[in-house]
Amino acid sequence: MNTADRKALRGLHVAIIMDGNGRWAQSRGLPRLMGHREGVRRLKEVVRACPDLGVQYLTVYAFSTENWRRSRREVTGLMSMFARSIRREARELLKQGVRMRFVGDRTGLSPVLQDLFAWIEDLTAGNTRLHMTVAINYGGRDELVRATRAICAAVAAGTLRPEAVNEELIAAQLDTRDLPDPDLVIRTSGEVRSSNFLPWQSAYSEFEFTPVLWPEFTRAEFETILDAYGLRERRFGGVTA
Ligand code: FPP
Repeated sequence: MNTADRKALRGLHVAIIMDGNGRWAQSRGLPRLMGHREGVRRLKEVVRACPDLGVQYLTVYAFSTENWRRSRREVTGLMSMFARSIRREARELLKQGVRMRFVGDRTGLSPVLQDLFAWIEDLTAGNTRLHMTVAINYGGRDELVRATRAICAAVAAGTLRPEAVNEELIAAQLDTRDLPDPDLVIRTSGEVRSSNFLPWQSAYSEFEFTPVLWPEFTRAEFETILDAYGLRERRFGGVTA
């Protein structure tokens, strides 16, 4: 795709389910955490590539509400990796014009991680070149439950009429309230399902599934997928002339 075509794609929101870290590590006889570590390197490359490729919003699934079922060692390792990455990458993210946000239930995370989320969100709040959102302790159904509770509380308090509940009001209660819906959802590693990732927000998204494991997901692979997306027609349930 040429630069002009890419410019036409400017403002894209791409969401990624970064799957296959464990399999990548195990196939090499390495501990699973080494797969996640390699996954962070691929994520950094994708973040760097986004502005050139017309992607203004990037949302990634880093830890689901179901991931707590993994071994204690893997969960602790992932949590330390999140904290370490935030501390280590803050300066670079700021330099690259990345605005960081986190979605998911923060109350289930350690106070240290909660503080780091608030710190880097604050630090990068003025950036607009790339809006990067990381889903940690995120589950789409859990997000909808939390939103529904907030709406019910307002109705019970008499500050909201049930008839006033509509799609906009629900969307405004979600963790993603400040983001546009994703245009494209990519899942790596050959699994073909959305696993509770942005179910409300992806109602009209395109989906791309690649067999490539996340630790092998290169910029070239990202470009190929974006090019294929650029050629697709989006109709949002309507018809085109
Ligand atoms: C899925 O692979 C991947 C994860 C659960 C973790 C993804 C996290 C990162 C790549 C790091 C993100 C870091 C920051 C700082 C945002 P899997 O373990 O399910 O792989 P498998 O299906 O092969 O077992």
